[in-house]
Amino acid sequence: MDAASTATWRREWVIREDTTYLNHGSFAPTPHSVRESQLAWQRELTAQPMDFYLRRYEQAWLEARQQLAGFLGAAAENLVFIENATAAMNVVAATVRLTPDDEVVLTDHEYGAVCRIWQRACRQAGAAEPVTAQLPARIESAEQLVDALFTAVTPRTRLLVVSHITSATAVTFPVERICQQAQRRGIAVCVDGPHAPGQVPVSVDALGCDFYTASLHKWFSAPLGSGFLYVASAWHDRVVTPLLSWGRLEPQTPQRWWEEFVWTGTRDPSAYLATTAALELLQRVGLDTFRTETHELARYARGRLVELTGLQPAIPDSPDWYTAMAHAPLPPGDADALQRALWDRHRIEVPVIEHNGQRAIRVSCHLYNDRQQVDYLIDCLQARLADES
Ligand SMILES: Cc1ncc(COP(=O)(O)O)c(C=O)c1O
Repeated sequence: MDAASTATWRREWVIREDTTYLNHGSFAPTPHSVRESQLAWQRELTAQPMDFYLRRYEQAWLEARQQLAGFLGAAAENLVFIENATAAMNVVAATVRLTPDDEVVLTDHEYGAVCRIWQRACRQAGAAEPVTAQLPARIESAEQLVDALFTAVTPRTRLLVVSHITSATAVTFPVERICQQAQRRGIAVCVDGPHAPGQVPVSVDALGCDFYTASLHKWFSAPLGSGFLYVASAWHDRVVTPLLSWGRLEPQTPQRWWEEFVWTGTRDPSAYLATTAALELLQRVGLDTFRTETHELARYARGRLVELTGLQPAIPDSPDWYTAMAHAPLPPGDADALQRALWDRHRIEVPVIEHNGQRAIRVSCHLYNDRQQVDYLIDCLQARLADES
């Protein structure tokens, strides 16, 4: 991308002046055009709520879903908007209806809140605690990762829950292979995908998973409070809706699973409706450009981190394994204190994470980030690590 285009896109994100924001992966700032779209929906809603809810809302919801479904390679009737990945995962936990004999298998890279959801679901069903598959400390190939995951599978395994891109370690999992192998063994798969849409191609129907859950504020650039739940057709008649309301507004009544998610009580749906603006923005930037640019910066960050510490990351240096988030190990030490010091002393927002006894840093690289910011991080990190020793 040339300098002029970079400058144009960068204006979409207004980051507070005092901050070097390298944590798009946790909470992503909303782009200007998407915020404007959301505000336009809110203005329409608040100016005449009756007209909006009764005559406008459902059609707008259906149209926004259609656009999103196209992007995700999903039939629209397999998809609903939902607040975030957490809400979606709770629906999956209610829908799967575990029995005392069932086992749920996760990996040791899964998101903490997701693990809690499955711990509770297993306890409520009187089943054993979820099984955690230990992945190799150094991941060399998709085959090796999939083998390690399936080592934890037994004839009682009912469900696998795997990230598409992990949170703590920023690894892109070979979800296609995982789904293929699970299908052969008759095991359901729920893919936990908040980091994936935008960062990597997502083609959900082709993937062959049973469920896919995601928040859309991260790399898809939609407003905070937008996400989706994908349910494969085999599960449609079993979906349980923990948040039961009208489903559809009268005179309609819900007939199909997804209709229960159109009206979930009176709420502001502007975040859902503005997902179309996020998609348009990604298309204007160009998905390939977005991925190439952000990966190039993440690769630079990873290289500089390795140079600083001499420690090798857990995954190969390839876009097959990471896109826009660089993850690299750090020498042992207090992860929280280091993250705090980077903020308190340098105004850098970047997560320092302790995972499986290894301290590491995860650097998110978006279009609004640049090499200067990465260099600044490296200088500050060097100073803080020197203080520790
Ligand atoms: C892998 C993964 N799963 C689930 C979640 C939960 O997402 P949310 O808090 O948007 O519901 C996150 C949040 O960052 C995540 O990274």
